[in-house]
Amino acid sequence: MKKNKTIYICQECGNESPKWLGKCPACGSWSSYVEEVIHPDRKQNRPAVSQNRPASIDRIDESAEIRIPAGMQEFDRVLGGGMVAGSVNLIGGAPGMGKSTLLLQVGGLLAANKKKVLYVSGEESLRQIKLRADRLGIHQADYFFLIDTNIGNVIHYMAEEKPDLLVIDSIQTMYSDELESLPGNVSQVRYCGHLVTTAAKDHHIPVFMVGHVTKEGNLAGPRVLEHMVDCLLLFEGDDQHIYRLLRSVKNRFGSTNEVGIFEMTERGIQEVRNPSAYLLSQRQKDVSGSVVTVNMEGSRPLMIEVQALVTPASYNIPQRTSTGFDHRRLSLLLAVLEKRLGMKFAMQDVFVNIAGGVTLREPAADLAVAAALVSSLRDQAVSGSTAVMGEIGLAGEIRGIQQMEKRFSEARRLGFNHLVTPPAQLNHMKVETGFKHTPVHTIREAMEKIFA
Ligand code: TYD
Ligand code: MG
Repeated sequence: MKKNKTIYICQECGNESPKWLGKCPACGSWSSYVEEVIHPDRKQNRPAVSQNRPASIDRIDESAEIRIPAGMQEFDRVLGGGMVAGSVNLIGGAPGMGKSTLLLQVGGLLAANKKKVLYVSGEESLRQIKLRADRLGIHQADYFFLIDTNIGNVIHYMAEEKPDLLVIDSIQTMYSDELESLPGNVSQVRYCGHLVTTAAKDHHIPVFMVGHVTKEGNLAGPRVLEHMVDCLLLFEGDDQHIYRLLRSVKNRFGSTNEVGIFEMTERGIQEVRNPSAYLLSQRQKDVSGSVVTVNMEGSRPLMIEVQALVTPASYNIPQRTSTGFDHRRLSLLLAVLEKRLGMKFAMQDVFVNIAGGVTLREPAADLAVAAALVSSLRDQAVSGSTAVMGEIGLAGEIRGIQQMEKRFSEARRLGFNHLVTPPAQLNHMKVETGFKHTPVHTIREAMEKIFA
């Protein structure tokens, strides 16, 4: 076999160089050179034309897509109904979120179903994995573990063992000896990702890779990894809370609007089947500063408690602290309340907290946050069976929101009998008896109705 040749290519303009360069002489961009390997053998053996032919759309057999359900409902839902044979899935998330635990359990469920699972770890020892597996009650004979960081070996066992599921924990620890750079390096991660993807398609094996994230919460390593995989999932949550969200950011085989909800327990990751009830379980009813809203997590409605505490400031500069809600949005809401309703927050410390460690990203949460602020300022509770939603504009108008019907049904299901919402899209809504719906147009009207 001829020796592989290494060259460096600028990722911006494609300029080639035999050496790594900090700055590209052709286009002037910095740190854009990435190592590439040229396989002399592969080039020679390639057939002149590939076997692929164009196919008419009505001749394409879509039933060829094989789905393997893991048997963990929330997990399968995020994937769009189970794992797809030959698909490459990347799970990103902060350290300690439970990525390894989740994949260890998914492998265990499959192995319990007489499927062969290969779990490759470059992060933990066999002993560590065994201890964890024992604790989680995983001891299936068809569950195989390999501690290795050489991707060549992993590919070898993929071909030899042909497992029904391959887990790689993590892609950043893998390296190929065909490249000279160190494991974790951009070119290594990219090349290993490429090798795994090719092997997964060749052998029709679903692959789950763990990916590390940076401090900013982005996936570490090259962006190309995200383009390469079929499915990118993010495992999110807050260290302080046991509750975790598995969100699909990219999915070539399903919707990206899906969210799976889990909790971290002493017996590993457990699914949460009724998340709204779970999130509201610790709520104190009829306490000022607490308001419930319906937040959409992708296509799923979730009932969430917004808490606010407004107290006289003890220093000259009043504090604004917000957890789970954008603090600039909070300043905006405070300004609207001051301007449109004449409420005085200037001498008050303001704290906002979204219960359960959830982050509210939707503007639809505005009205609930504003109501919680007013409730705390006035020390007047909002009825425990009222839920509030709507976006607030700078003029104090209440703006329409998406997916009202889903939010309605979720609130009904959890026994809420009064909803305060924007007036839009109500004509086709069926409102039952014993249930009060209050459409509001302005923040003034909203506060009058909420605190009636
Ligand atoms: P881990 O899966 O190692 O996280 P990641 O791979 O994302 O870095 O899990 C990390 C945390 O989960 C660890 O701090 C311990 C906790 N944990 C539990 O609370 N219960 C359990 O059953 C297990 C296995 C872990
Ligand atoms: Mg881990």
